[in-house]
Amino acid sequence: MRDETDERPPFEWEERFRADDTPWERGDVHPAARMWLEAGELAPGMSVIIPGCGRCPEVTAFARAGLNVTAADLSETAIDWQKARIAEDKLSAVTIQGDILKPGHAAWSPDQPVDRVYEQTFLCAIPPRLREAYEASLIKWLKPGGKLLALFMQKDERGGPPYGCSLEAMHALFPQERWIWPEDAEFVPVPHPSLNGKPELAGALTRR
Ligand SMILES: C[S@@+](CC[C@H](N)C(=O)[O-])C[C@H]1O[C@@H](n2cnc3c(N)ncnc32)[C@H](O)[C@@H]1O
Repeated sequence: MRDETDERPPFEWEERFRADDTPWERGDVHPAARMWLEAGELAPGMSVIIPGCGRCPEVTAFARAGLNVTAADLSETAIDWQKARIAEDKLSAVTIQGDILKPGHAAWSPDQPVDRVYEQTFLCAIPPRLREAYEASLIKWLKPGGKLLALFMQKDERGGPPYGCSLEAMHALFPQERWIWPEDAEFVPVPHPSLNGKPELAGALTRR
């Protein structure tokens, strides 16, 4: 069984995209992304990073809505797919292909801190030992007052990906000294259409 201490070779994302074996894909804009667009949490002129964007339609949806999108992924196939959609729809967005969580000075950062990070099945996809590095990157990527639009995958079984992101674990990862939290009851559960219908909890955390 694969679990948090697993040191086997990393998950082969590129191979999965090439084989079209991507059960995490919703095939449509996430209901929570629609909710945030409608509520103005994602508004024209804002800058947004989509880490581990894969082939998610939010890249073009946010660009179409007037946001300045930076979409990043390890997978060349996924980034080529995003570039083709962006060109086809005559939109503009920055794409980054590579490992955005390299430790130390090699860790990726945008030129300027951004207003929003839209987090869709990225935190739950990375090995849990990389979570603290990701949280440190988020603090660098976001402006003070900027928001992490989070979708925390709820899953009780050990192992992954996806790895479970219980609210208890998330409170420990995103501490009150650095993040302003909504009430736990304000998170909106959205079941995933595949992944056995596991719910994701949608909520916005503000970087202090
Ligand atoms: C579960 S998929 C989610 C894709 C997309 N967000 C979606 O919801 O369809 C996780 C994505 O994270 C990317 N990824 C994993 N580790 C990464 C890293 N260190 N740097 C950049 N991308 C990474 C994978 O290539 C994959 O596209």
